[in-house]
Amino acid sequence: MRRALLAALAALAACGGEDQPDCVLPPGGEPAIDPSGTFCRTLSEYRLFEDLAAQRPAAGVIPYDVNTPLFSDYADKTRFIFVPPGATIGWRDDDALALPEGTVLVKTFAYAHDRRDPALGRRLLETRLLVRGPDKWTGAAYVYDDTGDAHLAAAGATLDATWIHDDGAQLANAYGVPNKNQCKNCHAEHDKVLDTLGWKARHLNRPGPEGSGIANQLQDLVDRGVLAGAPPADMWPRAPDAMDPSTGTLDARARAWIDINCANCHNERGPARTSGLFLELAATDQTALGICKPPVAAGNGSGGRKYAIVPGRPDESIMLFRIESTKSEIKMPELGRNLVYAEGAALIRAWIAAMPGTCD
Ligand code: HEC
Ligand code: HEC
Repeated sequence: MRRALLAALAALAACGGEDQPDCVLPPGGEPAIDPSGTFCRTLSEYRLFEDLAAQRPAAGVIPYDVNTPLFSDYADKTRFIFVPPGATIGWRDDDALALPEGTVLVKTFAYAHDRRDPALGRRLLETRLLVRGPDKWTGAAYVYDDTGDAHLAAAGATLDATWIHDDGAQLANAYGVPNKNQCKNCHAEHDKVLDTLGWKARHLNRPGPEGSGIANQLQDLVDRGVLAGAPPADMWPRAPDAMDPSTGTLDARARAWIDINCANCHNERGPARTSGLFLELAATDQTALGICKPPVAAGNGSGGRKYAIVPGRPDESIMLFRIESTKSEIKMPELGRNLVYAEGAALIRAWIAAMPGTCD
């Protein structure tokens, strides 16, 4: 009796209250969404995976990867897209591709137990969904529990995790699952409606994830009849892989890294618009990019440094100070990480060190 009561209470806490409606999906075995925008209480209800623990997708759910990912405290990510049968994606050169109603974008975060040996398995942390309803995107995070399923976590979560890092050291992190309001900090302009960030041609123009057998993701979508209106393949834009020197110059790789890790907030419509630091790939204004740009507010966040970027001098550049910080009022990005991304910091350090010119 007491046990049943405790279980009921735990269930209540997990799903945010019995009074919250659960989703109503169309019948059938295929993945689908609730057009009213209500999120299911558990991830399995969406029928996106044949095997959730193994992240083996259901038929019609396509795995994909991006050239340069967002850094999320060394979590590994697996990504999928589901487009309803018969619907098509519309081409756009630079902006997000036009994804049809009923699309589900899926991103699972996991920690490998030992980053040196993937065969040792991994711990699933959370799966985020972006769902394209009749008029807008909505987003939610699902946190894996010991039932083997993942439950809706509208309020976010903190997951204590440890793993063996690339260098053999044991690392620990209080991994943060964002709450539902935090999605829009990165995924929305003017704090309004959500949009996809990765579904741009330049991020997707690459082979599919290992084992997918997809030689080029965009070509694969064209071949499946899912992507319409694409120009000839030699005109497709391609962002470099920031960590792979064979894919671009130092400048191109640094800009690609900044594009995905910083520019979603640092643009004229984003939450960092008041900073005057505009870091989109298309931005060419040297001051807006941070070169010899004094901070809007001096103080802690600038670490006593004078400019966002001082050419040739990474250790005098506020940008690197903030990338290398773990303090909540200093670190950049301000959301989505606790740890320093050593490889990303090294890239920006090399980029600034190689810049010609001076500020004073
Ligand atoms: C710190 C910024 C940030 C926050 C906060 C954030 N995202 Fe994202 N998200 C990104 C970036 C950048 C990408 C694309 C790069 C990648 O996939 O690594 C992305 C990709 C995704 C994708 C894959 C499809 C796509 O648009 O590329 C999904 C799904 C997603 N996010 C859902 C969410 C949800 C739901 C939330 C809130 C619970 C959230 N995200 C919070 C930055 C963020
Ligand atoms: C989730 C949104 C978000 C992301 C992503 C983000 N920033 Fe910021 N950034 C802000 C906000 C908001 C401010 C203004 C408040 C402040 O200075 O803390 C800011 C301010 C800054 C400033 C001070 C600007 C000035 O001149 O006053 C620097 C430098 C900076 N960010 C660098 C970066 C870098 C580099 C990245 C990527 C590694 C990044 N930011 C990613 C939101 C973001």
